[in-house]
Amino acid sequence: MAKLLNPFSPQFKIEVELELRRRAEMERQAKLAEQQKQEQQKQRQRKSLRFRGSAATVQAIHDHEWILSGPAETGKSFATIWRLDSELSRVPGAQASFIRKVAADIGPTALRTYRRIIEISESGAKPYGGEKPEWFDYPNGSRMYIGGMDRPGKILSGERDYIYVNQAEELSTGDWETILTRATGRGSVTDHPMVFGDCNPGPPSHWIKDRERMGQLRLLESRHEDNPTLFDNEGNITAQGKRSLSILDSLTGVRKSRLRYGLWVAAEGVVYEFDPAVNQLPQFEIPADWRRFRSIDFGYTNPFVCQWWAIDPDGRMYLYREIYQTRKLVEDHAREIVRLSVGERIETTVADHDAEDRATLERYGVPTVAASKQRKVGRDKVAARLRVQPDEKPRLFVLENVVIERDQELRTRFKPTCTRDEFDVYQWAKLADGKPDKEEPEKLHDHGMDALRYAVMYAEQGTGYESFVERQPAELEDSETDNGSSSGVVSELLRELGIE
Ligand SMILES: Nc1ncnc2c1ncn2[C@@H]1O[C@H](COP(=O)(O)OP(=O)(O)O)[C@@H](O)[C@H]1O
Ligand SMILES: [Mg+2]
Repeated sequence: MAKLLNPFSPQFKIEVELELRRRAEMERQAKLAEQQKQEQQKQRQRKSLRFRGSAATVQAIHDHEWILSGPAETGKSFATIWRLDSELSRVPGAQASFIRKVAADIGPTALRTYRRIIEISESGAKPYGGEKPEWFDYPNGSRMYIGGMDRPGKILSGERDYIYVNQAEELSTGDWETILTRATGRGSVTDHPMVFGDCNPGPPSHWIKDRERMGQLRLLESRHEDNPTLFDNEGNITAQGKRSLSILDSLTGVRKSRLRYGLWVAAEGVVYEFDPAVNQLPQFEIPADWRRFRSIDFGYTNPFVCQWWAIDPDGRMYLYREIYQTRKLVEDHAREIVRLSVGERIETTVADHDAEDRATLERYGVPTVAASKQRKVGRDKVAARLRVQPDEKPRLFVLENVVIERDQELRTRFKPTCTRDEFDVYQWAKLADGKPDKEEPEKLHDHGMDALRYAVMYAEQGTGYESFVERQPAELEDSETDNGSSSGVVSELLRELGIE
């Protein structure tokens, strides 16, 4: 039974004081236990952080130029960014840059990896600039700027001790040379300035392989077995490993060779010879008096593609903007198309033939004309335009980084996320003997390619296209029918539901 105490007695005061102390002590104990638990967890994380293979090698090398190459998800970025973070912690007052070709692409992957790393390493790096930080500051005065080659700003504004490039294969050789002029060692605080990065393999003719052959750059190979989230310390595959590898196993063609097996191989049997050195240009302001039009291929589970094209006074075509997006309704696309085209004089929009989708576009302000779908003629015309002419220029260009928003779902499945990506993987179907059937492309990765073909057919007809379509006798159209990849949203949805 509780003793009843006089609340004004000295004994009561003592009891209260003791109770308060007991409670404070309990709180202190609980806090200590929590701290210990967190410390143990961090130690476990640190312990499990064993680098293997090339991921271990790159923690200690001092080469001026190096790149860790390999298939997708081997832990290249993790290992490389870990090294960057440890150098910045080690060298007080160091200046570094964290670069990718396109600034907008850093956030979803590499920046997330970096944030995870600074939590584990406890380097104390703090972001400056909110959601999309401009730089990170270290307690020892080191600083790391972050940005893309599309808007270099601070990342290349001065001499750097370390420059890290994420997905270095996306850079042009000119980009890499520019970067090298910012880490020469003049005025650096580190004893070994480095320009380094990670990459997925590209064609054997890539500048990364050239620099390796010339002995200018050290190229290291990483493999899936190096990644502790995919394979445990005993070399057994983990559940995550099974998931990741099954996605990579489902890839085809050159993407599989590069992203699953890490091979530097050229795309074989591609339909179009797209040469980035020839057919790709940095973005520029399109003069107001150039002709402009749009070309659309419908899709829902497959990407919906809308390309904006400009034609210069010599008749050369420039892809200057693009929507490449899955799982969005045609009416929402229509609104976006109208919004993006404000202030531009668009002479027409050519579209794939789906009547319902075209009606929807028209209802929301994007009237279309039916594209000319003579496939073979169209392909030949695209191929011809991509080739360099006697004036040393091709007649078709894709401007860099024109896609409005990268489709993250396509990205996580390692599928093309823009028309530019499709050029590398749009292949001829294979004959029984495995040789490419040069009459018919595979019905894969052809969404931007179809819109491209419609665009070229339109550009070749010039203005007055509509009357041309009307005059076009039906038998001139190819007999090939559209069985699938480029048909409309509604039929696609019906197919998904099993209703053909
Ligand atoms: N050594 C490591 N320790 C802990 N996690 C790792 C390690 N290496 C890779 N990972 C994790 O594996 C996943 C893939 O790694 P990442 O570096 O993004 O691969 P890549 O750059 O080769 O495509 C990421 O979630 C990453 O955090
Ligand atoms: Mg990476």
